[in-house]
Amino acid sequence: MRLKTESDKETRGVAALMVRELKRGAPHPMVIGLSGELGSGKTTFTQGFAAALGVKRRLLSPTFLIMRSYRLPRAVAGYNKMFHLDAYRLHHRSETEVLGLADILRDPKNIVLIEWAENIKGTLPKNSIAIHFEHRKKENERIIRIMRH
Ligand SMILES: Nc1ncnc2c1ncn2[C@@H]1O[C@H](COP(=O)(O)OP(=O)(O)OP(=O)(O)O)[C@@H](O)[C@H]1O
Ligand SMILES: [Mg+2]
Repeated sequence: MRLKTESDKETRGVAALMVRELKRGAPHPMVIGLSGELGSGKTTFTQGFAAALGVKRRLLSPTFLIMRSYRLPRAVAGYNKMFHLDAYRLHHRSETEVLGLADILRDPKNIVLIEWAENIKGTLPKNSIAIHFEHRKKENERIIRIMRH
């Protein structure tokens, strides 16, 4: 699916729509790999996703912490935790091991959003979703492509 947004608010709206479409009973965690150049909207999308899940805490870019976790105030479609990982500085499998990512990617109650997912492609489960963000000529325009792996 290919969408065009013209503001950060619209990009958050796309994320909120995806939250509304979450289906109950998936036997695996929901993993979303976000790719696209600096400032293309990966964190903005994640903020919209978290807000739609009911997360009240301000979502900061996890760049310096690499990963943040958010407990959902109420389960949404059976999910009760959201993880936000920034893989910008990750390049080796051993680094994701330190984070305990393998366990996180096994728990079907987790939603995991990963910026710069292309850096740790080999670690992501087959049923993950890929979302690519692209700038356009107009300053606030972005193309968002949502793909199933
Ligand atoms: N249509 C749009 N969608 C998303 N963000 C937009 C849009 N138009 C303008 N922006 C602005 O672009 C910036 C996107 O920054 P954001 O931190 O989300 O990017 P990022 O992809 O996470 O970058 P990084 O690779 O540095 O982590 C924000 O300042 C946001 O307000
Ligand atoms: Mg970011």
